[in-house]
Parts: sequence; C-alpha cells; structure tokens
Amino acid sequence: MKSVHEKKKILLGITGASGMLFVTSFLDTLTGLDLLVHGICSASGRNVLKMEQGLEPEELPGVSHWFDHEDLTAPPASGSSDYASMVVLPCTMGSLAAIAGGLSLNLIHRAADVMLKERRRVVLAVRETPFNRTHLKNMLAVHDAGAVICPTMPSYYLRPQTLAEAAQTYSWRLADQLGLDIPERKRWSDLNQS
Ligand SMILES: Cc1cc2nc3c(=O)[nH]c(=O)nc-3n(C[C@H](O)[C@H](O)[C@H](O)COP(=O)(O)O)c2cc1C
Repeated sequence: MKSVHEKKKILLGITGASGMLFVTSFLDTLTGLDLLVHGICSASGRNVLKMEQGLEPEELPGVSHWFDHEDLTAPPASGSSDYASMVVLPCTMGSLAAIAGGLSLNLIHRAADVMLKERRRVVLAVRETPFNRTHLKNMLAVHDAGAVICPTMPSYYLRPQTLAEAAQTYSWRLADQLGLDIPERKRWSDLNQS
C-alpha cells in the first residue's frame, strides 16, 4: 500500500454540461484503485450536477479534496503540483474555448493550461450536439496543444441495456486514456473470444 504522498493523483474538473451520469459512473469505476482524486467544480457544473443527479460535488464518492473553482492560488494552479493527469468531465463548449484560448478564467481552465504546458495528460470529455465551427476549431486547437478530446460517447457493441451500463463503457474508455487499469473492464477482444 502506497502512502498518501506516493499515490497517483488525478484532477477532475466538472463543468456545466449535460451528462453528469458519466461523472458518477467514472468515479464508481475508480473505486478500489490506489489513487487520489481531487476535484474542481465550476458554478454551472454545480447547478447541472444538482439538476441531473440531485447531488452536490462534495457528495460524490471517491473525491478526497475539492478546490474552489475561483481560487487561483490553489495547488493545481501551479506547474509544481504533482497531478499525473486531468480530466474535465463533462466539458462545456465554454470551458473548451477558455482552455483552447489559454484563458485562465477559473481554476479548471488554469489547471488544464498548466497540465498542458507541463506536457501531462489532459482529457476533455466534451459534450454538445451538434457542434458548430467554433467548437470544432477549439477542439482542434486543444488537440494540437496536447489534450485528448474524448467526447461522452458510449460504445454499444457490449450491448448495454441501461444508461448506467452505457455510461460504464465510456468510463472504461476514459480510464484507458488516463492509464488506469480497471480489472473488470470488458473489451471488444473479450467479446470476440467468448
Ligand atoms: C441543464 C443544462 C445543460 C447544459 N448542457 C450543456 C452542454 O451539454 N454543453 C455545453 O457546452 N453547455 C451546456 N450548458 C451550458 C453551460 O452550463 C454554460 O455555457 C456555462 O456557462 C458553462 O460554464 P462552465 O464551463 O464554467 O461550467 C448547459 C446548461 C444547463 C443549465
């Protein structure tokens, strides 16, 4: 068992897009892993999380510390922080634009900016439909800056029967992107071999 200081640290940014079931699914997926998850939730993220899941961020499972989204003095604002990776889930078009433009309007944007400059993993779980030209250009800009665009799109070949099962397929994909090994993860290859 690693000490708290040796554990892999993941930063979770929650912004105000629809699809908060992906947040609860993802955090459930991380249960039992030897890592620390710290969170930042935007003001809109807090509203939409309440609307869609009836939860405050602080009630989400598995997040050991929450930073105020307006606190630009918090550790994630500095390149000296030791997060292995950051995921913005879900990621609004507004936050995507701020990250693409390098605007540190809140701690989520600043943390993503810092992670990109430090060449660490940043995954943006963008959510909007359809996309306009500005959205697409911003996605390309952050891709070119080193981020991974990972839209909240479940896969269907495992034949999910419920929204929770569909969200689970996406959470596994996200875990792959963050280099996290989920023992119970099912893959296309498992399906083919059975
Ligand atoms: C119920 C609800 C659902 C929303 N869904 C989306 C969405 O899917 N994608 C998006 O880009 N914005 C969505 N928005 C709008 C954002 O919340 C809004 O643009 C906000 O200013 C984003 O701020 P943030 O990125 O700091 O969270 C939604 C708003 C509400 C109230």
